[in-house]
Amino acid sequence: MGLSNLVDGVQVAAVVCNQFGDTGKGKFSDYLASQWADVIARGTGGNNAGHTVVVNGKQRIFHLIPAGITEDANGKVNILGNGMVDDLEVLCGELDCLDAEGLSYNNLMISQDAHVILPCHVESDKAKNQSQKKGGIGSTGRGIGPCYTDKIARRGVMVRELFDKDVMARKLNKLKEYYPDSDFSDVVERLKPYADRIKPFVRDTVSEMHKFYREGRKILLEGAQGLLLSIEHGTYPYVTSSDCSLNGTATGVGLSAKAVDLPLGIVKFPFMTRVGAGPFPTELGGRQSEVYCAEDGHTITDELVYYGIPFEMKEGRPRYDKRNSKILDMIASSDEFLQGIGIRLAAGEYGATTGRPRRTGWTDAVAARYAVGINGPLMVLTKADCLSDTGDFNLCFGYQNTLDFSRDAGVLGKANPFFKRYDGYSEISSARDYCDLPKSLKTAIGDLEVFTRGKVLVVSVGAERDETIVRK
Ligand code: IMO
Ligand code: MG
Repeated sequence: MGLSNLVDGVQVAAVVCNQFGDTGKGKFSDYLASQWADVIARGTGGNNAGHTVVVNGKQRIFHLIPAGITEDANGKVNILGNGMVDDLEVLCGELDCLDAEGLSYNNLMISQDAHVILPCHVESDKAKNQSQKKGGIGSTGRGIGPCYTDKIARRGVMVRELFDKDVMARKLNKLKEYYPDSDFSDVVERLKPYADRIKPFVRDTVSEMHKFYREGRKILLEGAQGLLLSIEHGTYPYVTSSDCSLNGTATGVGLSAKAVDLPLGIVKFPFMTRVGAGPFPTELGGRQSEVYCAEDGHTITDELVYYGIPFEMKEGRPRYDKRNSKILDMIASSDEFLQGIGIRLAAGEYGATTGRPRRTGWTDAVAARYAVGINGPLMVLTKADCLSDTGDFNLCFGYQNTLDFSRDAGVLGKANPFFKRYDGYSEISSARDYCDLPKSLKTAIGDLEVFTRGKVLVVSVGAERDETIVRK
């Protein structure tokens, strides 16, 4: 079945993550932008996000600009919404990349109401982040938390204020009190070239959005982060500082979640990942893995060298055989810590934003059911292709003594998962029909649906647009 069935009668769709981020929002934003949407908008977070898009073998990673920007030349509008926090230098860097590629961004809109990440925010985030190994949350160090803190405390700088000298002077003067170690003397001058550059794109995007909605234009909300990282619904305090649920994403572009006809929650399956600190019940290698992933010196190249897996560098990235026998041996190992590293190597799970190794574990259906309760029942499964030909897999259908997810990080950190085992499966990348998927995978998907009372509408079988099975 094709995409047309899925989007039949849909005016607003949303792609949000139902786990800890990095589930493939970039792929689906690009996919729906290229095939369907007229307007693509992000509503939460900033350049803590890393949204990877692969088209015809070419990989692009977006941090602020929605992945639909490559469709700008086709008249598609991309919006950085009111709920975002924008780092102007990073934003201009992304514009430079588009320029270098000859890609247009004539229809880009930047919300005048979004908040601006200032140097003091980045400095403060990085300073706090030093303590990750001592139990800190391990943020991306991009200033996200401090910027949202100032927003909530009603002293933040909004995009529209960049163009008012007096307001800027007053605000920065006030902010100095809260960041005594930061130098504010040249902030205005440092921001000016960036502010000037983005000025032509600054709009009241909420009212633009309402206009698009009234005109019946097809709108796609591109989520960022993931539900379990939401300030409202995640594993607080091991979360990001925005509400990256469906509701928060809609708010962040000026719409009601009720306007979303097709809310898609992405679930990485049958393994999942987490970056940074915080509870992750199904993590392979448990605490050992969490500590290891927080340490420096475990980038993808470090791990390839350490485990003796041959690779060559191409376009700044290592290329290697993801089914190298050493990787397969690691996944087959009885040592779960090694198994987790094997899965990371087999799936290439290293942070698109920070390069950190992502913690790996089996997909947690308890967490997925919790996410269904908030983001709704419609699911997209991604990354199953990354574990083809690697042996049996597990899914978690409960913790010792409970079938319920806990929002209490202390309780969740001690949860002991109960797993169901499934037979491994062979290559699935060429499958285009749900019926063609291997039996064990379909059984596992069926179990997930029954347990969560959700419905899997889409299964991704690769990074490319067409490597997608639409089930409806
Ligand atoms: P995408 O959109 C995965 C995590 C960080 C850290 C916590 C707080 O690519 O899925 P922050 O810098 O936001 O204050 O860090 O949230 N985090 C993400 N993890 N994917 C993301 O974005 C993330 N954005 C933030 O690792 O644990
Ligand atoms: Mg990412």
